[in-house]
Amino acid sequence: MAEAVTAGASPTACYADRAAHTPARIVAHSQVADSTFRIRLDCPAIAANAVPGQFAMVRIPDRNDPLLARPLAVYDTFAAGRYADFIYLVHGKFTTALKDMSVGDELVVWGPLGNGFDPPAVDHLVLVAGGIGQTALLALGRERLGGATYGSPGRVAPLARRVTLCWGARHAGMFGDVDDFRNAGIDVHLATLDGSTGRQGTVVDLLNDVLGDDGESLRVACCGPEPMMAAVTRWAQSRHVVCDVSLEAPMACGIGICFTCVAKVRDAEGTWDYRRTCVEGPVFDGSTIEW
Ligand SMILES: Cc1cc2nc3c(=O)[nH]c(=O)nc-3n(C[C@H](O)[C@H](O)[C@H](O)COP(=O)(O)OP(=O)(O)OC[C@H]3O[C@@H](n4cnc5c(N)ncnc54)[C@H](O)[C@@H]3O)c2cc1C
Ligand code: FES
Repeated sequence: MAEAVTAGASPTACYADRAAHTPARIVAHSQVADSTFRIRLDCPAIAANAVPGQFAMVRIPDRNDPLLARPLAVYDTFAAGRYADFIYLVHGKFTTALKDMSVGDELVVWGPLGNGFDPPAVDHLVLVAGGIGQTALLALGRERLGGATYGSPGRVAPLARRVTLCWGARHAGMFGDVDDFRNAGIDVHLATLDGSTGRQGTVVDLLNDVLGDDGESLRVACCGPEPMMAAVTRWAQSRHVVCDVSLEAPMACGIGICFTCVAKVRDAEGTWDYRRTCVEGPVFDGSTIEW
């Protein structure tokens, strides 16, 4: 049975009070790229309510190593909000243990958490992913092209005339399920550092190639390693474009209690303070982050 998770009051958006804490059975689990797996969980209390860019804390029950849950972005939802898909890169203890779990096994999940992406109306929405950062971006692209509705009741979101994905990774083997983006009508461009597919170079090189100055209103939604997000923010600032970034800070609780996940965020006066990325983020205007 799903139970509500409660968090302390937050001065800004806090969605943890709408989150559920629930067992979730694995209904599909497969490899989609090098060291990258996709897992589908039966978790209607989370899938039905998640909006693009939100995440869930996922824990393997009956284990104390790793003891703590890990945050994973909700990649997409299916079957009228019954199932949620997550894509993860095998990295450390949790993801190594997760990859050995089978269909029918049960996890413990709490979510949906965080603010998610909610950009205003714009002609051209540019999704920028580095490494495994695409997981936070597919649902946003689908929503803004009118292909899907998220949240309960379904969120009414302004449509973009077009959505582009610029995705950079170290090599070709790291791209998994790229067709999810193409099938959603998103214009996909890839870059690799070793040139094994797409443009050789960084995702900023790719942005310079792909985005001319065609007079459209632009907005960037970005997720990936911190140095990459800092570089994309600088690129956007040089073009006077707002760049929303989804920070991947390590998290212990996900609901605002432990302060593991803080980032230095500037206010309107230009002074910074620590903000908890789990409840006040993970999405922030990149220009406010003290990189
Ligand atoms: C909101 C959010 C959404 C995320 N979504 C996804 C997703 O969809 N797919 C995915 O694969 N990963 C995602 N991550 C990252 C994932 O939660 C971490 O990589 C997690 O630590 C993996 O757990 P692990 O036990 O396998 O590795 P760990 O054992 O936790 O990590 C190994 C090493 O990496 C360091 N580390 C841990 N987390 C981070 C971090 N965020 N940044 C830099 N170093 C870190 C640790 O200090 C340790 O040294 C997300 C993170 C956040 C905050
Ligand atoms: S992870 Fe505990 S406060 Fe953010």
